[in-house]
Amino acid sequence: MTKQITSFSDYQKTYKDSVKNPEKFWAAQARTFTWRKKWDEVLSWDFETPDIQWYKGGQLNITENCLDRHLKRRGNQTALIWEPNDPSQPHKSYTYRELYEAVCQCANALKANGIKKGDRVCFYMPMVPELTIGVLACARIGAVHSVVFAGFSASALADRIKDSSCKMVICSDYNQRGAKNIPVKDVVDKAIAKKCKSVETVLVHQNTGGKVKMKKGRDKWWHDEVSRRRKNCDAVTMDAEDMLFILYTSGSTGKPKGVVHTCGGYMVYTCFTFKNVFQYQRGDVYWCTADIGWITGHSYIIYGPLLAGATTIMFEGVPTYPDAGRFWHVCEKHRVNQFYTAPTAIRALMAMGDHWPSHYDLSSLKTLGSVGEPINEEAWNWYDQHIGKGKAPIVDTWWQTETGGIMISPLPGMHALKPSYAMYPLPGVQPCLVTAEGKEIKTKEAEGLLCIKFPWPAMIRTTYGDHERCKQVYFSTFEGMYFTGDGARRDKDGSYRIIGRVDDVINVSGHRIGTAEVENAINEHDSVIESAVVGYPHEIKGQGIYAYIINDRGVDDVAAFKKEIHKVVTKVIGPIAKPDLIQVVSGLPKTRSGKIMRRILRKIASGQADSIGDVSTLLNPEVVKEIEDQQKLAK
Ligand code: WTA
Repeated sequence: MTKQITSFSDYQKTYKDSVKNPEKFWAAQARTFTWRKKWDEVLSWDFETPDIQWYKGGQLNITENCLDRHLKRRGNQTALIWEPNDPSQPHKSYTYRELYEAVCQCANALKANGIKKGDRVCFYMPMVPELTIGVLACARIGAVHSVVFAGFSASALADRIKDSSCKMVICSDYNQRGAKNIPVKDVVDKAIAKKCKSVETVLVHQNTGGKVKMKKGRDKWWHDEVSRRRKNCDAVTMDAEDMLFILYTSGSTGKPKGVVHTCGGYMVYTCFTFKNVFQYQRGDVYWCTADIGWITGHSYIIYGPLLAGATTIMFEGVPTYPDAGRFWHVCEKHRVNQFYTAPTAIRALMAMGDHWPSHYDLSSLKTLGSVGEPINEEAWNWYDQHIGKGKAPIVDTWWQTETGGIMISPLPGMHALKPSYAMYPLPGVQPCLVTAEGKEIKTKEAEGLLCIKFPWPAMIRTTYGDHERCKQVYFSTFEGMYFTGDGARRDKDGSYRIIGRVDDVINVSGHRIGTAEVENAINEHDSVIESAVVGYPHEIKGQGIYAYIINDRGVDDVAAFKKEIHKVVTKVIGPIAKPDLIQVVSGLPKTRSGKIMRRILRKIASGQADSIGDVSTLLNPEVVKEIEDQQKLAK
């Protein structure tokens, strides 16, 4: 079995061993899985190229480890519980055997529709069991899944389909979220119409039964294609370094990039971190509220829990529907033991009042998790007191799409916690802080840029179709290190506190958004000449989006203009990227070489104009004062 750390001294020893001899440590973790062929070499790496290979020569199929491996002993144990958007509807459960059969049927349907090992399949779906089943079905036959969050627009979806030339799109008819009913299939049609020539088949899952148009020859119903298939399907043998999935994420420049994860290392790492960070015990019920459109859903709704033989909940709805007690109702209903969510949800629910959680029996909760953005002390304390009742330790887990799994986190119950600290690196993780010049800061107490010095099994291997970009973004800023894009502080006992992004990426309600992407979207508006987007502190969302816009004809009605900007951003990216505040300006502060000084704009947006400092070297220093003076006109 995967090692489960039991005490702080056990952690310290394990950590030491894992750093002293990483190969030995990760070989021991890998041995507990089913391999069709054992690896020849545990690790071969070079951060310069970058070329990272774990379990080289090993062969496996991750679904055999998620499903088949559990059938004998746990065939009748619940693997997946699905809780629908509408609480008056029944929930659904799948035992490991039922999930296995459903995945095999879907895998057979994919094969019958021409999907082979290496083909890319795009998912654009709500949080329904068929999403998990479809993802695993791809992995079973060696197809590469690319899940796109169902809140993205047709145009954003089209970019992602084209970037990895997906052969199939799997979607639902509609997506029910809270009181909304979103036409998912319609978005897929619009996306494919944007010259997605690679798509041969669209597999449509009937979710609400609402009316949709089906294109003859291309579109097929899930219930026609999947239900009649055989309930077993041989898992395809994969090399440890074969691609498992692509997940698009935002960076500081350009279009979102397809982060590539591979089979072997990702499997070992997600299982190890799941078992240790959440201290999952046999029989526990675990719930992560993330969407499978993000990495958290991949690693800690699907793969990590199923690899560990856990019972994992998938929730279709939103925290406030039908009311602000929904999360706690679900915790009570399923006797949830581990609950994992994002600070933005905690803050939103905290703002609704303490009485909501007090209506429910939350005594089953043993561990609480937080992910996606820094958790402020107030939210941490509320989570601790009102949800955990002071008895369920909070694990503030730091990681990224690129890291594949949790990197820095407390271990629950094994040491004192510090609000807003992600605390200690997990075994095998070697973080360091560096100066802007790339010099490692060796003192214990320090603040700097967070880098990782040594490979870990679930790390990014490449960015799809553009290896050079992977090298530039992550491995070229500082020699011989993976650069995270985050700043962090370390205190004297080696505990880390994540400060936040130091690049032009913002974290809005836990969604990662590139400011350049939002600017490009805003600039599509007819009358916009130029724009600059920055993040600013937002009480609920963590960060809000602040857009400074130069318009060619002046704006009398900023509120009406904001509506137009929202429309264009929703069309190009999706509603998650709509600016919270818009300020119309006559110019943007620029350096003499023409670069926008975002640092200044960030200060103004954050209400810290008095600490801007000297602006006299700017090309247009006068504009700073004007922007400051007119900030109150922002809407
Ligand atoms: C931020 C989400 C503070 C960080 C798993 C990182 C956090 C980015 C934390 C990655 C945390 C994630 N405390 N900040 N516990 N967890 N972040 O790729 O800025 O969507 O770089 O992965 O979220 O976001 P991503």
